Amino acid sequence: MKKIAVLTSGGDAPGMNAAIRAVVRKARFHEVDVVGVYHGYEGLYNGKFELLDIGSVGDIIQRGGTKLYSARFPEFKQDEFQYKAIERMKEEGIEGLVVIGGDGSYRGAMQLTEKGFPCVGIPGTIDNDVPGTEYTIGFDTALNTVVDSIDKIRDTATSHENTFVIEVMGRDAGDIALWSGLAAGAESILIPEESFEIEDIVIRLERGAARGKRHSIIIVAEGVMNGHKLAKQLEERTGVKIRTSVLGHIQRGGSPSARDRVLAGRFGARAVELLLENKGGRAVGVKNHEVIDYDLREAFETKHKADLSLYSLSKELSI
Ligand code: F6P
Repeated sequence: MKKIAVLTSGGDAPGMNAAIRAVVRKARFHEVDVVGVYHGYEGLYNGKFELLDIGSVGDIIQRGGTKLYSARFPEFKQDEFQYKAIERMKEEGIEGLVVIGGDGSYRGAMQLTEKGFPCVGIPGTIDNDVPGTEYTIGFDTALNTVVDSIDKIRDTATSHENTFVIEVMGRDAGDIALWSGLAAGAESILIPEESFEIEDIVIRLERGAARGKRHSIIIVAEGVMNGHKLAKQLEERTGVKIRTSVLGHIQRGGSPSARDRVLAGRFGARAVELLLENKGGRAVGVKNHEVIDYDLREAFETKHKADLSLYSLSKELSI
């Protein structure tokens, strides 16, 4: 291959820029040209291309967001849009594509591969919900942002003896809630993967109050329910005022952690190798510290599993 392209798609994640940089630098190392595609699949369809040289990806390794912008483009599910995108890439002499995004973004990559255009996926999402890999780019940074926010909320919760419900992102996955709740010592953690009883949270609150504890943190993943709704239910049950904080998009921003930058570098380099080895239709991931690759289909045909041993642990540590 002499020319490949790279795009970012779906919700942005810190470390996407580091991955773009790794793709460009690794490809240039092998004297392969790289075209950046702006605005994800929409840009692929509309030909928003720009040749990326080594210098063009300088000074981005530390930046959050994505230099190539990201977009959600549901039209790309249609065959005619995919054929058009392939035509555009061929006109530019592009022979392979790296897609950085979540499992939703992988679907388009697989469909292009099935139509004869080799694509490789790099998992980039704060949700950590791509099946086949233990970690996605952006999760570690988002996690640290969330933990930092919970710590700050705890400061004021302690001073005013308040109970807080903190709603975190994650879509249908509980990873952000689980890991941040554990890291910040939350009293209760609610994740979509496990059912919960309001009564159980109430018992924990009452048990804490009985031993003199006057503040509490409850983490709820957005995939379980709205934080305000949960707070209302708890208020009705306990008669105590419960504050709510919805962390929102702050979780998607910020400079990527060292861990996310290194992961992005490893993933980006392996993705380019796969294309150069003519192995389209693969996704890169990490398992037991090793970079692996696997069938792209696995990423959206199987279901992500959160590490539920952490859930049991949180129950034991927050008695
Ligand atoms: O997938 C990343 C994510 O931030 C999810 O955690 C969240 O549910 C979703 O994107 C929000 O997307 P949007 O910014 O399009 O509302």
